[in-house]
Amino acid sequence: MNIANNLAFVVFPYLMLTVFVVGHIYRYVTDSLGWNARSSEFLEKKQLFYGATIFHWGILLTLLGHAGGLLIPQKVFDAVGINGDTHTMIAYYTGWLAGGAAFAGSVLLLIRRVTRRRIKATSLVNDYVTLIGLVIVTGLGFYNVVFGHFYVLDSVAPWIRSIVTFLPKPELMLGVPLSYKVHIVSALALLGFSPFSRLVHIWSAPFTYFPRRWILFRRSVADL
Ligand code: HEM
Repeated sequence: MNIANNLAFVVFPYLMLTVFVVGHIYRYVTDSLGWNARSSEFLEKKQLFYGATIFHWGILLTLLGHAGGLLIPQKVFDAVGINGDTHTMIAYYTGWLAGGAAFAGSVLLLIRRVTRRRIKATSLVNDYVTLIGLVIVTGLGFYNVVFGHFYVLDSVAPWIRSIVTFLPKPELMLGVPLSYKVHIVSALALLGFSPFSRLVHIWSAPFTYFPRRWILFRRSVADL
């Protein structure tokens, strides 16, 4: 039994997942008016447009790829004709695109936060921790795509499934390279931190905006 491995890949994940769930409930109950993205668009638009657009497209596609590629067992992909090598190749190219965008976008957002006077003046330590956390997690993920070339479909992927099905198999993580382990542990730490940051806005995506009826604004005669 490897104690450090069990701490990192059984105890820590469940601790962070518990903080994630309980933390969101606590934040929602105690700070419902602070539950937002803390938009800074009215202070600076141009850099935000590039940084936030590149980052959001990148991170949303990356999260989708992680969910689809790691949570669905390889035998399901095999059944539809996508073998392990093809799956890995798809992950590699989409990882370059989506992971690269998430990393580049988070770096742009961090640069904006430290270089624009108005943004810097209104930033909280929490905003820096969030962005630096995202730069580290996406940076390590992108590093693994570009330089890692480790086959995750019989190690990291079944380990994640073992965690979410409450049948943990930490031994699957023993032979995984360090850069992958640090990526996973830092992503879990960010997951645990997220309920106490602006990242709560992820759960309030305005999906009802699309099917809702237009709102017509008309000036009253007195305004003209
Ligand atoms: C569910 C879909 C999402 C929507 C609709 C959304 C929407 C938004 C909006 C409206 C802002 C404010 C931008 C501004 O300052 O005006 C924002 C900022 C931000 N979002 Fe999201 N977001 C989503 C998902 C995510 C995800 C998955 C992450 C990261 C895991 C994320 C991380 C951030 C960060 C770090 C900022 C702050 C950027 C900055 O000001 O430096 N968002 N988001």
